[in-house]
Amino acid sequence: MKIFMDTADVTEIAEFANLGIVYGVTTNPSLIAKTGKSQAEVIPEISKLVEGPVSAEVIAIDCDNMVKEARELVKISSNIVIKIPCIPEGLKAVKILTTEGIQTNVTLVFSLSQALLAARAGATYVSPFIGRLDDIGVDGVKLVADMVKVFKTYGLSTEIIAASVRNMAHVDAVMLAGAHIATIPTNVLKEMPNHQLTDAGLKKYLEDYQNSIK
Ligand code: G3P
Repeated sequence: MKIFMDTADVTEIAEFANLGIVYGVTTNPSLIAKTGKSQAEVIPEISKLVEGPVSAEVIAIDCDNMVKEARELVKISSNIVIKIPCIPEGLKAVKILTTEGIQTNVTLVFSLSQALLAARAGATYVSPFIGRLDDIGVDGVKLVADMVKVFKTYGLSTEIIAASVRNMAHVDAVMLAGAHIATIPTNVLKEMPNHQLTDAGLKKYLEDYQNSIK
């Protein structure tokens, strides 16, 4: 499973991109708003920091304007992927962009039916939002597992990005479910290297080392 960062914070992305852990980045209008900068300022910076795909979301909700926005956004860099909401107009836009060779990430996906339509429209990526499903009492990880199964059964090449990841248990579960990618917020990514037994083990090793050289 590849790791993407789910943030538009350039400093945070630079920190993890330098470690070689993070391959791509996903953004959305809410994440961009948190930076206090515009999408036009932030996306070019992000696209230079990672080698893999950087998802930039369209604001329009009609097909023609989504396509227009997408054509402008891809001029920024060769690793830009256009994030399109899973609505009927969005699926139309995905079809057009796919025929133009523009990569898409269909977002705000909450059901298997939506995932199938996105894949059939030609989406490069599809993003099931697991945390938001959990919020309404639906098992978000199960949707990812079901999507993995269905895409394999029907030979669909669209890659699954587990999104709206809220904790390390989500990361472990989507990894086991076979998601191609998890897009992970910085707070969760920062927790991932840690384990209390690692800390305790290291403390003991250092104590034993100090005692051995006395
Ligand atoms: O990638 C989608 C993600 O940003 C949504 O996460 O936590 O707002 O549900 P959240």
